[in-house]
Formats: sequence, C-alpha cells, structure tokens
Amino acid sequence: MVFMTRILKNINIRWLTIYLPDEALKFTFTYKRRSDMKLFRYFFILIFILTNGCTKAPEKTVTESKMEKFVQGLLEKMTLEEKIGQLSLFTSDWGTTGPSIRKDYVDLIKSGRAGAIFNAYTVDYVRSLQKIAVEETRLHIPLMFGYDVIHGHRTIFPVPLAQASSWDIESIRRSEEIAAMEATAEGINWTFAPMVDISREPRWGRVVEGAGEDNWLGSLIAAARVRGFQGTDLSNERTLLACVKHFAAYGAPQAGRDYNTVDMSQRSLFEWYLPPYKAALDAGAGSIMTSFNEIAGIPSSSNKWLLTDLLRGTWKFDGFVVSDYNSITELIAHGVAADSAQAGELAMNAGLDMDMQGSIYLNNLAALIKAGKVREESVNKAVKLILTAKYKLGLFDDPYKYCSKKREKDEIMTPENLSFARKFAANSCVLLKNNNKTLPIKRGIKSIAVIGPLADSREDMLGSWSAAGQWEKCVTLVEGIKNKAGDNIKVLTAKGCNVNDDDRTGFSKAVSVAAQSDFIVLALGESRDMSGEAASRTDISIPGVQMEMVKEILKTRKPCAVVLFNGRPLTISELDKTAPAILEAWFGGTESGNAIADVLFGDINPSGKITLSFPINTGQIPVFYNCKNTGRPVNPLFPNDKYKSRYIDCPNTPLYPFGYGLSYTTFSYSDISLNKSAFQRNDTIIASADITNTGDRDGEEIAQLYVRDLVGDVTRPVKELKGFQKLFIRKGETVRVKFKITAGDLSYYHQDMSFTFDPGDFELFIGTSSADNRMTPFRITP
Ligand code: BGC
Repeated sequence: MVFMTRILKNINIRWLTIYLPDEALKFTFTYKRRSDMKLFRYFFILIFILTNGCTKAPEKTVTESKMEKFVQGLLEKMTLEEKIGQLSLFTSDWGTTGPSIRKDYVDLIKSGRAGAIFNAYTVDYVRSLQKIAVEETRLHIPLMFGYDVIHGHRTIFPVPLAQASSWDIESIRRSEEIAAMEATAEGINWTFAPMVDISREPRWGRVVEGAGEDNWLGSLIAAARVRGFQGTDLSNERTLLACVKHFAAYGAPQAGRDYNTVDMSQRSLFEWYLPPYKAALDAGAGSIMTSFNEIAGIPSSSNKWLLTDLLRGTWKFDGFVVSDYNSITELIAHGVAADSAQAGELAMNAGLDMDMQGSIYLNNLAALIKAGKVREESVNKAVKLILTAKYKLGLFDDPYKYCSKKREKDEIMTPENLSFARKFAANSCVLLKNNNKTLPIKRGIKSIAVIGPLADSREDMLGSWSAAGQWEKCVTLVEGIKNKAGDNIKVLTAKGCNVNDDDRTGFSKAVSVAAQSDFIVLALGESRDMSGEAASRTDISIPGVQMEMVKEILKTRKPCAVVLFNGRPLTISELDKTAPAILEAWFGGTESGNAIADVLFGDINPSGKITLSFPINTGQIPVFYNCKNTGRPVNPLFPNDKYKSRYIDCPNTPLYPFGYGLSYTTFSYSDISLNKSAFQRNDTIIASADITNTGDRDGEEIAQLYVRDLVGDVTRPVKELKGFQKLFIRKGETVRVKFKITAGDLSYYHQDMSFTFDPGDFELFIGTSSADNRMTPFRITP
C-alpha cells in the first residue's frame, strides 16, 4: 500500500519513486515521455511481485484486523480537540518530579483533554478518575494509568543496579512480573520502566536505576524486564505496558551532571548506548520515553532522526513515544525552540506522540495544524498508536479491569512476594572484601554491635524511585540481625553519626558499644536521596564524618564488617585498606535487613558481582572495563614508563572492576580449551574451562567470557563481555563451563557503520571478573 500511494502521488510531477516493501530499498526514476512511464510501471509491477513473493508480510490475525478497524472507527469519530487530548498525559496530585503544570487534571479528564494520568494508584482512586473518563466524556475513551514502577510496586525489590549485580536474569524478570501483578492490582496499567540507560558515570545519580556499564549484559536485562512486565499477553489483567527509557544516551551526561549535554560519536552511540533500548523493543515493549538530554546538539524530544528515522524506519517500532516530564517545554531552555508553539511543532514533527505534563500539545497543536506547521495526519498517527495501546490492554472491553478490590487486598505484599524479595536482595549483595574469613559471622559469638547512620534507617532501605513502597514496612539491618540472632546473641546498637553532616557527638557511644561486642557491623553509605534523579555528586566518597567514625571504631581491633548502602559505586579506597570485610548491600528494598542478615550469618553465600566499576578516586571517572588500548598502553612490566597513557598519581585500573565480587568460598579456573585451533567464519567456537570450588562451603560463581578483537577496521575494546553463566558448585566439586560464540557475536560497527565481522586474530578470556586475564588466542580464517 505504501508503495502504491507514493507512486500515485509522484506521478504528476513526472518522477517515479519505487519503494520496496520494507523501505530498505528505494529507486527513483525521472522520465520525459508518458510512454516511458509505462515501461517503468511494468518494471515496478515485476519488482513488486518478486519482492512481495520474497518478503511476504505476515498475515494479520483476525484480532489485529478487528483492533485496527476499531481504532480507525474511533479515530474517525473524534474531534481534533479530543485527538489532542489523547496525546496529553498529566500527573495527579500524588507526586511529581518537576513543576506541576496543571493541577486541574480532573477537569481535563472530564473535557476529554487528558488521555492518560500518572502518579495515581489504589483501586478506589483510579476507579473514580476512570469513571469520569468513561462516563462523562463524549466518546467514553478510558484513561491509561502510568507510574514509575521501577523496582517493585508495594513489595520493593533491590534497586536496579543492585539487581544487575545478581546477574540473575530470571529473578530480574520475575521481580518485574511480581511488580506488574502488584501494580495492576492497584489500578496501574503502564510503567515508566525499564530504564535501560548504559552509564560509565558513577557521579550521575541515576546509575542506580540502570544495569551498569555494559551494553551486552544491559541488553539481556532490558529484555528480561520487558518480558516480566508485559508477559506474553498484554490484555492479561496482571501484566502492564512497559515504557523503555530514556531514549537516548541519557546515561552519558558530561561530567556526570544530571540533565547535562551528551555528545558522542555515532559509533559509540550505536555500539554502547543504543543496544539495550533495541533489545527492550525487540522484547515487545509497547512504549518508549524520550530523554532530557541532547545528543550532538539535538535534544531527544525534537530529534527526528532518533524518533522517526531510527525508531520507526530502521527499528520498525510500532508502539508510542512519550516525552519525559515536561521535556517538550524544555526545548525552549535547550535553545532550539523560541516558544511553546515551536516546541510542540518540533516534537510532533520529530515523531513524539504523547506530551508528559507539559500541556504543549494541548495548547498548541490545533493552531499548528491550522497554520500548516503540523500535519493532522501526524496527530492521527499518534492518536492511533495510543488508542491501540489502550485496546491491547483491554481497556475498551473493560475500563475497570485493573480495579479489583479483591486483588488489591489479596495480591499485594504476599508472603511469597516478600520471600522472593528477601532472596533477591541477598543475591544482589556483593562481597567486596573478606580478609581472613571475617565473614560470615561465627554463630558462637555472644554479642554484636550494629553501628552507623544506616543501621536502623527504615526509609533509606527503599532506595530511590520506590513507587508505592511503604517505608514503615521495611526491615532495617538492626532488625534483620536481631531476627537472626535470637536470644543467644546480644545485639547492641549505636547510630554514631548522621549520613551527611559533621556531628561527631555520637562517636563515643559508638566506640563504647563496639568495645563491648564480639563482632562489629558498620552500616555506612549514602541516604536514599543521594542517588537517583537530580542527585549527581562531584565527590562520591562516603559522605559526612562516617569515615572518621570508622577510624575510631577500628581502633578497638574487634572483628568488623562494613555493610554499604548506596545507589552508585563509591570511592572507598581508604575503607578497602582498613576494614577487614566489606559487603555491598546497595538498597535492598522491603526485606533489606533480613536479606543482609542472611548473608552476614552465612545462610546465603554471597554471589553478586558489580556491573559498574568502583573507581579509586573521582578523578579516574569514567573508568570502565571495555575501554580502548590507545596508542600508548602501559606495559605491565614497566608500569612507570613516562610517555604512556596513564596518570602519574593513580593506576588506570579501578579499585573493583566490572564483574568483580567474592564469595565465602573460593573458585579456581583451569586453562581454557577451545574445540578447534583454527576457525572458519561459519564455525561455532566452543570455549570451556573447569571451575573448582576450592573452599569449604557450597557457592555460586558467575563465570564470565570476554573477547578481544586484536585488529579491526576501527579500534576495538581491550575486552568485551560475550557470555556468562551463574553456576552452583558444591565444595570440592569441579564443573566444566562451556560457552559458544559465533562470528556474528564478534561483529562491530566499521568505518562505514556497517555492522559486520572481520576474520583475524582474537583473544578469549574466561574468568571470575573482567580483570581476570586467563586468555587463549584464536584465529578465524577468511
Ligand atoms: C523522570 C522519568 C520519570 C518521569 C515521571 C521524570 O523526571 O526522568 O524517569 O518516568 O519523571 O515520573
């Protein structure tokens, strides 16, 4: 159809463009005589038949045709004002992350000028708003209800960066399935998640919402989250619509400052930053949110190349695009629009379908259409996408399908959900240091001191973006330890100091409590609001006087473990030198305290590995594992050579690298063996290694596979993650881990931006982290 229309349109001006069905190929002919035109036509018909035969479009199912008919029928009944209403999303009064532009959302719903509402939940409340839309508007079009369900809805799971540290893709999927179940039980049917922004910038507070620095792992996680939210059937009352965000490259703000400029090469964008968005869309995500940032001078909300050429053209995305909070209005501050009318024009013409909170579309689209600056067809297209999403959710069949009082009562914070949350939080912990087997805590001790500003801080356990999570229901570390200690171990507590000020008055009590105990647990880190949106830091060390307190307490020379709470990597070189044991607990959600106690006492053997490098100091940032070699790499045998790419005051490597994390047991890796010594381009490379649990308890190991392409058309990273396996290995046992890769896995963006693979020499690594250099070379012949 697209093909025919374009031809007919172009006939009069005496040139003829032939688009093959997927628009991947385009031919343009100019002609002088009408008879030539006939020839072209025959040629075109021939091509059409051939290509249609080869790339036959899949038959539409009856349901799809029914849906299209319904949506088209509804669209035809709508006034322009009603259409624009569908493109407008407003927050209820329940919570905002920016200026609340309109508080009169109830009137907006009534007059059909709001298509969706966010930050509204609980069955009664949602029902009351939906009732207005369905009963009091002319066309009775139901609202969608959106919310930032980021790591759980009422049962709060660990923050996403922590979840990523589990490398447990199935648990990540399951956590979103539970989040969807709980959120839909309270009226929500659209989540502003997953956030899939890759970031190498721990100063940026929003790393807490993402999966870390690696695009390959990030893509797996992104897809798993979408599958968890949406399930296999969006019309199921327990699944909700996912919204991939923030498109694109929001995770690379200059100097780590939130909302700041992003500027990078097209190759970096495609290679590192875009894959997780694509993976989430390929997994079926039904909507996508633009980012606040610009890329190379073009803000995402007005970036036609991003939102139309790439998203619709190349990626064939058929869901809808929503702006971020007020981000269309922000085109004015960015300096690409003079006023709100121009902002609306740019956004709509770029391909942005729904305006979050800005009222820009509401106030300007009609006039823009009248002035010929925006085509009504563009508005129609956007409206259709939004109506289609509502249709797929089943809202036209039953607008109240997410409003079940029974589900609200029975399906939230169930014992199963809490027990899953506890396990997941324990599995997200990363053991960073454990000298002389300080951990786990020996059961025979008589007393334990739990000290620090985060030891009993309930609210902080939720972490940032905690949806409808109730902080009162969170288990603190003190409580978790008390639950575990029972009557046999005396638990003493002291706050010692606050998270982020210079009050030292609590030091003496903390030291005396420490001195009276057999074991000390120090709960340190950031408060929950020190990471997340608008929470960038230039100094990511442990804030306030916490480190001073640590020094005082360590003087007692008692066995001591530090538990860290934070939403980003921190610079903890000093702590790493002095504390006997460090457990990274992130913000574990509702069950935090119980989960950490499970790990501290050894009921769960920690198995997490970090997915964002911990720098030695802030000056090293960005420091990430998949960096380039440069023309002057440091020779490890002569690390102090002067004219090399290095610092004179700090190594190039981070304190803890990507993929690093310890266990209470130890694992040893054998040499790597390959199934062949030389490969051809269609061969599968099978790499294997034996891993032995050499310690004294069972444990899980995340074995990682990395590859390096030694010579490329463009420079290639020193390592790239291409596989991992999380293996349970009993003490004393040896298992063989096997990875398969193909030439396709070695493809990359060449100078001409083709994504292909080159034969040649490679190195392959299998090991316990990105810094494990057990390597074997291999060659692929042309
Ligand atoms: C954030 C988004 C979020 C939106 C709605 C914005 O400030 O950047 O991630 O989904 O608010 O709450």
